[in-house]
Amino acid sequence: MKVLFVCLGNICRSPLAEAIFNHKIKKLNLHTEILADSCGTGAYHIGNQPDPRTIKTANKNGVEIAHRARQLVAQDLEDFDYVLAMDEQNLQGILRLKDAAPYTHKIKLIRDFDPQGKGEVPDPYYGTLHDFQFVFEMLDRTLDAFIQSIK
Ligand code: 4NP
Repeated sequence: MKVLFVCLGNICRSPLAEAIFNHKIKKLNLHTEILADSCGTGAYHIGNQPDPRTIKTANKNGVEIAHRARQLVAQDLEDFDYVLAMDEQNLQGILRLKDAAPYTHKIKLIRDFDPQGKGEVPDPYYGTLHDFQFVFEMLDRTLDAFIQSIK
């Protein structure tokens, strides 16, 4: 099983989702069966480490994070079983890929799994550390529910 998390820059939300997800599946001893990655629909930050605030927030919450930003490619839709977008803009960016049509069943908003209700994961890039913690908690509960749904 392969899960891909997608945001815009791949330095804030999606690498955080990937790190939290990996932390959880390792604890559940599912890491030999499930593989996660993240990417961005945009090209702005290719090769970059996560934003320092992403790293700080992950570590503060006991989650290790190591990722280099990459851009979404059409092949990802073939390779991954779930492609989870953080917001509507990301979702539209994924669906705009050439030949996305056969894969629409794999492509969802991550908060379709949020037990507190559907919606978007807000972009914290222009926000504060508080906004990153808000995103962490949103992803944390949503990923618990997502893991329950795929187990
Ligand atoms: P992310 O946040 O999509 O959660 O990684 C952003 C990071 C960078 C930019 C936008 C959003 N940017 O415009 O550079």
